[in-house]
Amino acid sequence: MGRDVIIACDFPSAEKTLSFLDRFTGRKPFVKIGMELFYAEGPAVVRAIKARGHRIFLDLKLHDIPNTVKKAMAVLSSLDVDIVNCHASGTVRMMEAALEGLTRPDGTRPLLIAVTQLTSTDQGAMEEDLWIREPIDRVVMHYAENAKRAGLDGVVCSPLEAGAVHERCGANFLTVTPGVRFADGDIGDQKRIMTPAEAKRIGSDYIVVGRPITAAEDPVVAYERCVREFCE
Ligand code: C5P
Repeated sequence: MGRDVIIACDFPSAEKTLSFLDRFTGRKPFVKIGMELFYAEGPAVVRAIKARGHRIFLDLKLHDIPNTVKKAMAVLSSLDVDIVNCHASGTVRMMEAALEGLTRPDGTRPLLIAVTQLTSTDQGAMEEDLWIREPIDRVVMHYAENAKRAGLDGVVCSPLEAGAVHERCGANFLTVTPGVRFADGDIGDQKRIMTPAEAKRIGSDYIVVGRPITAAEDPVVAYERCVREFCE
């Protein structure tokens, strides 16, 4: 898999998601399914989107004891998705268990990436709520290194961190980055943002783009623009 744009399909129902994807005649964008849609519709929506030929990043951010995560990952692996994720804060052992669960008897598996620190967590919350008293960028890098040590394929991170993650963990360690906005677009509630072209320059492997595409007047035009700026 190379550099690509992943559309965050943050819709509440399968019906809305499938009718959104219907607009992309002749194209099969990579889609991200998150907790809202998965909890509402279950594995059926994953199978339906997969059956239409889309690649899927199933963004469920698993975090539990290693044995539970291992078993849950085995179930997700059977859905034949392309990328899944878990929290790096679940420990190296939990990430190793996730990888074990994900690996099929024939040795194949979806890509597994780790969430480092959520972008909604800032330095203050990390220190006061979590009692982690290190600078947040050091924590993000440490968690990325833990993910690499556990054998994972990459991390979800802000596009601003993608360059440093590659320097520390290697060019082949994937960086999947949300927080992308067009130069002339609405920022919404995202704070640390980059344009698709900037994300490309800094070396993101995949950008995850939601509202700039899903809420656009013409989502297909917005998607094509993203692909042009990021991939070409
Ligand atoms: O609409 P927007 O482009 O902001 O959507 C970004 C997507 O990436 C959403 O699905 C959001 O939940 C997800 N995400 C994020 N920041 C993270 C992790 C995931 O925005 N740190």
